[in-house]
Order: sequence, then structure tokens, then C-alpha cells
Amino acid sequence: MTKIKNLTALLTMSALLLPGLFLIGEVSAHGGAAGVVKERMELMKSMGDRMKQMGDMMKGKLPFDAASIAVSAGKIEKSAPEIVHLFPEGSTYNPSEALPRIWEERERFDALAEQMVREAGKLSDVAAGGDQRSTMVQFARLGKTCSSCHTDFRKKQEN
Ligand code: HEC
Repeated sequence: MTKIKNLTALLTMSALLLPGLFLIGEVSAHGGAAGVVKERMELMKSMGDRMKQMGDMMKGKLPFDAASIAVSAGKIEKSAPEIVHLFPEGSTYNPSEALPRIWEERERFDALAEQMVREAGKLSDVAAGGDQRSTMVQFARLGKTCSSCHTDFRKKQEN
């Protein structure tokens, strides 16, 4: 029992410490024992918002703005490395969509997160170059890394 309590305390501590380091100014910090789940949702959500905005540019719903895509992708590149710290072993409490498979295949999960960071960095570079076509291609590559992780490690959205 004490062992479990210690583990919970540890998870809580890392939940409180880690996100504070990088989310300042991005999203408001959330306290509480289940903070880590909330923090990663916030991070994912902010990435989702950025991806949506960029996606609208790709679709022509918004004017194509390569410079702002470069900034947005750069922000994803900067914050995404924290993903691996926001999934401490067994943190499926709260209304979480995280699948236990994350901790069974941790290396693959972390590798997907790293791949996403690389693709976001590339998108930032390509967009900074200003070429619309290659920016669109690289945007699609980044989007693929999001969905391939969600396919395997996040509960299906339909149910
Ligand atoms: C390494 C795996 C991984 C990668 C890469 C990843 N995600 Fe996620 N994402 C998850 C998991 C797991 C959840 C569920 C977290 C939870 O509910 O505890 C999630 C949840 C989300 C959510 C829902 C957040 C909420 O409020 O519940 C959004 C939106 C999201 N991701 C967007 C993105 C976008 C956009 C990208 C790419 C730029 C991305 N994700 C890349 C694993 C990943």
C-alpha cells in the first residue's frame, strides 16, 4: 500500500514539475494530483490547434502564410519533446484516452514522439524557405506522425 502511495506521490511530483518548465506562456498550468493527464491534453490540444490552422492554409480556407507556418511548426518542435515526460507509467487515470499499450511498447511510443519532433523541425525549415508545394508535402508528413501514434496508442474516437 505504501509502495503504491509513494509511486502516486512521485507521479504527482513529476506531473507538477515537468509541465511547468515548458508550458509557461503557452497554456495555463493546472494543479492537482491528475495534473499530468491534463497537461498532456493541453499540450496535444495546442498542437491540434496549430495543426488545424496550418491545415486551413493548406486547404485555402486561410491565406497561405509560410512565415507563420514556420513559427507554428517551430513551436510544435519545441514543446513536443516533453510528450515523453507526460506519460508516466500507468497514468491512465482521469478521463484519459491513453492506452496501456504505451507502457508495453514504450520505445516505439517514444520513437514516434521523436519522429514527430523531427518532422516538425523540417516543416519549420521548409516553410521558412517559402516554397508552398514542399511546405504542403512536409505538413502532410508531420500530420502522419500524429495520426500514426494516435492509431496505436490512443483510444478510438468513434466510441
Ligand atoms: C507519441 C504519440 C503521440 C504523438 C506523436 C501525438 N499524439 Fe496526440 N495524443 C496521444 C495520446 C496517447 C493521446 C491521449 C492522451 C490522454 O487522453 O491522456 C493524445 C491526444 C491528443 C488530442 C486530444 C487532447 C485532449 O484534449 O484530450 C489531440 C487534439 C492530439 N493528441 C493532437 C495531436 C497532434 C496535432 C499531433 C501531431 C502534431 C499529436 N497529437 C501527436 C499521443 C500522441
